[in-house]
Amino acid sequence: MTALMIHGGAGTFPEESREPALAGCHRAFAHAQALLEDGRSAVDVVEAAVMLLEDDPVFDAGHGSYPDTEGRARMDAIIVDGATLDFGAVACIGNVAHPVSVARRVWEATDHCLLVGNDATTFAHAQGFPCVPDEALLAQGEKPSGQGTVGAVALDAAGHVAAATSTGGTRGRLAGRVGDSPLIGCGAIAEDGVGAVSATGHGEPMMKLMISRLVLEHLRAGLTAEEAATRAITHLEWRFGGEGGLICVDASGRIGHAHNTEHMPHHGRSADDLHVTGLTDRG
Ligand code: GLY
Repeated sequence: MTALMIHGGAGTFPEESREPALAGCHRAFAHAQALLEDGRSAVDVVEAAVMLLEDDPVFDAGHGSYPDTEGRARMDAIIVDGATLDFGAVACIGNVAHPVSVARRVWEATDHCLLVGNDATTFAHAQGFPCVPDEALLAQGEKPSGQGTVGAVALDAAGHVAAATSTGGTRGRLAGRVGDSPLIGCGAIAEDGVGAVSATGHGEPMMKLMISRLVLEHLRAGLTAEEAATRAITHLEWRFGGEGGLICVDASGRIGHAHNTEHMPHHGRSADDLHVTGLTDRG
């Protein structure tokens, strides 16, 4: 009994990037699904899915990141293991292709959970992650705002859940700004026996609400994955006027998603083999 869901960010995708964004989600889903069927752990699966999304310049994560006010690509990412509640995260990291893998290395190779800024970049390079120039990471041309943080949630064959989220931040953000994505309970959360969540959208309201934690507590209280996702997005809009989206999986492998933006490309499969895919809630 396994389940998997991925998203490519909540926002407004212009006509020309809608099909590529959905295709990017399908590719990442197919790759991660094959790993899940091979018996790989939920942590491996969400990392692999997010790495592919970070490679795809249609998304605002890894390659395709929006510049900060200094014109640099500075990225945030988190990966969470529901079995142990361990997580690793990086914030304002530069010059790496896969912030999600550096986040995992923070958890696995140090006693810490979160590294930031130039020190996170130095750590990554010392750990053998290749140095990638800003020009290769930055969004090319007039890529419009709100196009999209990426993330994945999975339930593996052993019953473990995991979540990962990665972002290139908001367009024109102040240098040094950190969004919701690398913060536990905001950008992602996972706990065996309850579920896993990955969030996307305008980070400031989402971190005020600790939106991923909110979804997890809705699941713990017995809401379905769809109800938990929808209720949290309704709360975000009601309380802060925030715009965003999220995906989740519960401990039984039911999947849920919700967004109050125009689009959120996504692809998921529940434990009972229901596939959900599209650019909007309506598929
Ligand atoms: N949710 C991504 C950000 O605000 O940075």
